Amino acid sequence: MTFAAVDVIRTKRDGGVLSDAAIDWVVDAYTKGVVADEQMSALAMAILLRGMTPAEIARWTAAMIASGERLDLSAVDRPTADKHSTGGVGDKITLPLTPLVAACGVAVPQLSGRGLGHTGGTLDKLESIPGWRAQLDNAEFIAQLRDVGAVICAAGEGLAPADRKLYALRDVTGTVEAIPLIASSIMSKKIAEGTGALVLDVKVGSGAFMKSLDDARELARTMVDLGTAHGVRTVALLTDMSTPLGLAVGNAVEVEESVAVLAGGGPADVVELTLALAREMLDAAGRPDADPAAALADGRAMDAWRAMVRAQGGDPDAKLATARETHTVTAEADGFVAAVDAYAIGVAAWRLGAGRARKEDPVSAAAGVVLHRRPGDPVRAGEPLYELRTDDPARFAPALEAAAGAVSVTDVAPAVRPLVIDRLA
Ligand code: URA
Repeated sequence: MTFAAVDVIRTKRDGGVLSDAAIDWVVDAYTKGVVADEQMSALAMAILLRGMTPAEIARWTAAMIASGERLDLSAVDRPTADKHSTGGVGDKITLPLTPLVAACGVAVPQLSGRGLGHTGGTLDKLESIPGWRAQLDNAEFIAQLRDVGAVICAAGEGLAPADRKLYALRDVTGTVEAIPLIASSIMSKKIAEGTGALVLDVKVGSGAFMKSLDDARELARTMVDLGTAHGVRTVALLTDMSTPLGLAVGNAVEVEESVAVLAGGGPADVVELTLALAREMLDAAGRPDADPAAALADGRAMDAWRAMVRAQGGDPDAKLATARETHTVTAEADGFVAAVDAYAIGVAAWRLGAGRARKEDPVSAAAGVVLHRRPGDPVRAGEPLYELRTDDPARFAPALEAAAGAVSVTDVAPAVRPLVIDRLA
């Protein structure tokens, strides 16, 4: 069936419901270049302003999946489970989590992305390991999943091409923030990847896409329902992203912190979230009795990490890049750290060179921010709060401007905020 794009746009503009046939047509026609960018921009804006019914979102997601290939992981002789985070500051959880879950007998097909703006990207972090390769073809992806049980790599061109095109358009037309479009974008890629189970880490707070709990809950509900409807066992945790995760924000520094977790140490919040997500993944994959804490403590997770890095050409023993220049910010008064604002620290790390403003920009492996204190920690005047790292000292001034006021110190210790706020299944 053929439609006029302008009629589809008008229907949504006026608050109507798009038919299944109209959705199938517009997604397919846009992928093939029949519907122009300016028409899809108008439709995306109408969707942002008018919303979509659950049935429309389900059909839109199915049409995005149908725009490309769907991977078949049946050659993998273990259950599969993946995790998706909606993105945050210092969110390196995929790095320890993927080998940890693999060490517990569940294969993890983790197709990841690069950072944009103040949030980091898993592939950028891993590329700070000398030799590590993000691009695998489908045969390599499946072979590594079968042999090592853990893969983190870039999504191939054939997976949900409609989303690739639409996401780039949304990025430049102010239409990223529509819940139907975010949910269908994320879930089309995860469903097409072929995973049997999926755990969503939906972030909420200053450093997240979703600043309010209500929005985060609506996004989580929408994605869980989409996954379930497509036969993927899907669970979501809503987790706090008002403070960066762990102490390290950047690329090589986040790899180092992840390796510390795999060695049985690392910051308590990173360990807590890694274990919480691992338990959910193992449970959703039908292995509720597996003990991820034991696999972390006895070195099995570290062995899986080393095998995973080596399988993609990386040297797990290589020395990682360190920044040529550092600048430390100290406390002006005695007290307790009341808050560390994730967004401000994320922007500072980005300005130091850890992130990119445009998709094609390079990132610095060595740049980033290392926190010396987290919320609740006592501090005395003159002691370090955080440290900025970069190879280019001209970047300190804009980074300091971004981070100004990010860390507040008060006389009384603040109440502890829970890291895991809610769970939806
Ligand atoms: N990540 C995605 O993959 N898509 C979105 O729309 C937002 C975040």
